[in-house]
Formats: sequence, C-alpha cells, structure tokens
Amino acid sequence: MNGRITAPEDAVVPALDRGFLYGDSVYEVLWWHRGALIQAEDHFDRLEESGRRLYMDIHASRDELAAAIQATCTAAGLLPTDDGYVRLVVTRGGGPIGLAFDENLKQNVVVVVKEADRPPLEEVEQGIRAALVERRRTSKDALDPGAKTGNYLNNLLALKEARLAGADDALMLNAKGEVTEATTANVYLLKDGRLTTPPVEAGILKGTTRTRILALCAEAGIEATEARVTPKDLEAADEIFISSSVRGILPVVAIDGQAVGEGRIGPLTRRIYELFEAAADAEAADAAGGSA
Ligand SMILES: Cc1ncc(COP(=O)(O)O)c(C=O)c1O
Repeated sequence: MNGRITAPEDAVVPALDRGFLYGDSVYEVLWWHRGALIQAEDHFDRLEESGRRLYMDIHASRDELAAAIQATCTAAGLLPTDDGYVRLVVTRGGGPIGLAFDENLKQNVVVVVKEADRPPLEEVEQGIRAALVERRRTSKDALDPGAKTGNYLNNLLALKEARLAGADDALMLNAKGEVTEATTANVYLLKDGRLTTPPVEAGILKGTTRTRILALCAEAGIEATEARVTPKDLEAADEIFISSSVRGILPVVAIDGQAVGEGRIGPLTRRIYELFEAAADAEAADAAGGSA
C-alpha cells in the first residue's frame, strides 16, 4: 500500500478513499511468470488508457509501479519457479465526500500479490461450463467496458447468476444481443479452422491476452478475425475458449448445459494454448537473459 509492504490483513485503504466509496479507481491483473511480468507494457498501456477514460492521469511512473510489484513479489516469497497473481490498483485518492473531485488528490496505489492458481493441463483439458446469462454487459455509452475500473458489479452479478445456473462462468451479451465477453475474460469461437472474437466495438475489455492470441494466430497462419458473434454462432461453433492474463486459455466445453464440440478441449484450442504458453515462456526467458 503506497510502497509499504505488509501482510494482506494489515493493508488498509482509508474509508474516504474514492475507490472504496465509488469504485473510482483503475486496475490491472498481471501474470508474474518465472520472475517476469508478462506483457507488462501492454498492461501499463491499458492502465493509462483506463485512467484517461476516467479523467485521471496515473501519477506513478511505469518504473515505479514495476519496482513496487517486483518488491511485493519478493516479499511474498514467490520463487522464480512460481507463477504469481499480481493485482495493481490505483485509486483517485481520498477527499471530502461528494462525486465531484479535486484534480490534485493523492492517489492510493495498492499491489496485491499471491501465488497464482493456474490450472494444470489436465484441468485445462476438461474446460469450463458457461451460461449465457440474462444480464447484459454494461453499455459502451454508459460505462465503457474498455476501461478496467474498480466498478465490477456488472460482472460480479453475472458471475453469481451463472453460478446459480450451475455454470463456472457467464457469457454476456450487449444490448443488441451480440456476444461480448466472459466476466473476467475474452471469448473466442472456432469454426472450420477459423477463429472469431467479438470486436472492441461490441463493448468489451481489450484483453492483453487477446492481443497476443491474435498476433500468435497471424504468425501461425491461423485465420483470425474480430467480428460480431451471436448466440447462434456460439451454438454452431466447433470450439470455444476464453482467455485472461493469469489463467491463460480455458476451453468452454458447454454452454447452458449443451456440449460444445466434443465436450472437452478441441485441437485448435490446444494448439493456441500451446502457442500462448510457449510465448510466455520465451518472454520470461528473454527477461531473465536481459537482466542477467
Ligand atoms: C471483463 C474482462 N474482459 C477481459 C479480460 C481479459 O483481459 P487480460 O487478457 O488483459 O487479462 C479481463 C481481465 O481481467 C476482464 O476483466
């Protein structure tokens, strides 16, 4: 918390902090892999972009934030062989209660680190079950999902509703009935060897993992497009998967109780999973080489 490293229970945010009062904060979740912060620059780019959308410049520099994260990982006892979960939160700060804010508030910076519970391959192969929930993703015109802010009630409630329906995660539609994303992950479908993922215009968070997956597909000659996806497209898909920073790629093996494809990881999802894991390993090896 603001450079002071403590046990989680001793890390306290003031009650008048606007992140606490209003969700007036931005954040990132990063994957710490073999000592490296995977796609760190993409995450810092997005943190700043989220800030801009909230009329909020991030006061700390990228170097300061990266150093705070590494120091917290070390203090948390993460070993170079471990995988870490890193949550970086920047709140607008605390001040008099009221929605209007002073531009000069002192931002609070919180770094939360824990060991990542990345699913092993056997678990990845089994995939997850999703529910297409009734709750719509927040409209781009109201609160653009492209900003990663402390306001996650839309996603939290969708997840609760998916769990009540016996699923592991929710897929959410926008007001036009198009597929957007899962509650903390982007979604992709594979049909006849081609990958499709909803475009940013559908109202999604532009995932860092998504950016890398699209680049890896292009390199590997897998046709990949960003295009409108409907629930019918999901029904007709050969394979579906979701992606996010710490969990990586997870196949969706059923939607609303209906099996997707063979009901387990499909061949193209496996290939993209392998490409993605190899890219992260290479990035970590490069970072270790560069700092040696
Ligand atoms: C709503 C939402 N969509 C997508 C993602 C995936 O983004 P990334 O790949 O950068 O982790 C996240 C990550 O937390 C998210 O919260």
